[in-house]
Amino acid sequence: MKNIIVLGAQWGDEGKGKVVDIYSDFADTIARATGGNNAGHTLVVRGEKFVFHLIPSGILHPGKKCVITNGVVVDPKVLLSEIDKLKSRDYLKDDSQLRIGYLAHIILPYHIALDRAREERLGSRKIGTTARGIGPCYEDKIARTGIRACDLAHPDVFAELLRANLELKNFLLKNYYGAGEIDFPSTLDEYLSYGERIRPHLIDTSLFLNEEIHRGAKVLFEGAQGALLDIDHGTYPFVTSSNTTAGGLCTGSGVAPTKISGVIGVAKAYITRVGGGPFPTELFDDMGQKIRDRGWEYGSTTGRPRRCGWFDAPVIRYAHRLNALSGIALTKLDVLSGLPHVKVCTAYEIDGVRREEIPLTVSELERSVPVYEQLEGWTEDLSDAREFGDLPKAAQRYVRRLEELSGVEVMLISIGADRNQTILRKNPFRA
Ligand code: GDP
Ligand code: IMO
Ligand code: MG
Repeated sequence: MKNIIVLGAQWGDEGKGKVVDIYSDFADTIARATGGNNAGHTLVVRGEKFVFHLIPSGILHPGKKCVITNGVVVDPKVLLSEIDKLKSRDYLKDDSQLRIGYLAHIILPYHIALDRAREERLGSRKIGTTARGIGPCYEDKIARTGIRACDLAHPDVFAELLRANLELKNFLLKNYYGAGEIDFPSTLDEYLSYGERIRPHLIDTSLFLNEEIHRGAKVLFEGAQGALLDIDHGTYPFVTSSNTTAGGLCTGSGVAPTKISGVIGVAKAYITRVGGGPFPTELFDDMGQKIRDRGWEYGSTTGRPRRCGWFDAPVIRYAHRLNALSGIALTKLDVLSGLPHVKVCTAYEIDGVRREEIPLTVSELERSVPVYEQLEGWTEDLSDAREFGDLPKAAQRYVRRLEELSGVEVMLISIGADRNQTILRKNPFRA
């Protein structure tokens, strides 16, 4: 049994898409299980760029089955546009390559309108969401008033649910937020037509994945966001609305934890965050801008500049505690080439007291002063390295130090955006 979870070990955008694309070679089935189109997963294959928001990053591998499971919140408009784009580029020739959970919740226009209106109302206290309606959709799911993919396939059921939801949402939008209302008839028609197109993809994804596993197939689970954005364990309220950690992928996919054989945490060789919230190692100086420029740190979903900082070992140790990582996939090491030195945060000082572990509250995290260790930089371009030994000695020492500080071995090193710019030290499907 080799079923592997790949998830973000920082605040998202670690390079999960690229790592999933690489590992897809060794898997049979690739599944998304959490989040929605707040995710933006970028792959570069022989110089050609693809960005996926909902479709699993294994889709470029012909013959591999891709699944969007019940735990994902699906914006049908975004999904269909992603499907169309793939087909126009000569991928996804066979519709059966993509299966979607019958019970996945659907993002509707009022979720997006509420997300935006709420952020606007919060002003300077806003979370900095991706404005894709993710939070409001998950709220409806938990409130048991949500609309699911299976409902879209039944016009009468969908019309009734939409009418009931719009009654409350339009009241809120109009009277509380002073925003425009959502029109019932046009929304009904538009989403029923999406339902028609999505219907052939709908299946019981938990049954499918468990049958796949039973017959010996290897399943790769693609996480979204990152451990520090987890609704229960992240930097609340500056988090997303789902469980981004390993347990969340099991719940979202309906595959039990005992069927998972490994968890790979993807981490950048530095760290970024987009949106609001505490970020102890954030760099506000030229170094931060240099990393942003060299790493092209602009959001794949919203285009917002990402906040950049030094590698934060307490963050990774926390991600390790939450997910029991089998290994780290370390990305963007190439971005640090040419810096006179590199720094790593080994611990924090909070009110003068040294802390090895990340504090629980946002206010303590905001007061956390990183304790840094400075390491020698390197000047060489890393993009042609294919073995660990090809890396300059200083880069090797940097990777080894990150392993020591995190307590997790680095199994993969990414030294460029392209699929082939990768050092595969240990393959979790063969380990
Ligand atoms: P994800 O959300 O975790 O899949 O990450 P994103 O796709 O949002 O952001 C990662 C960005 O870094 C994308 O633009 C990738 O193409 C790019 N990328 C991934 N790995 C590397 C790497 O090793 N080096 C460089 N320079 N870019 C990388
Ligand atoms: P991937 O999968 C980085 C952040 C938003 C915001 C917070 C809440 O590409 O790594 P939401 O729209 O989810 O309600 O926003 O979470 N966020 C991400 N940051 N990468 C992501 O996804 C993110 N998805 C959400 O910026 O701070
Ligand atoms: Mg991303």
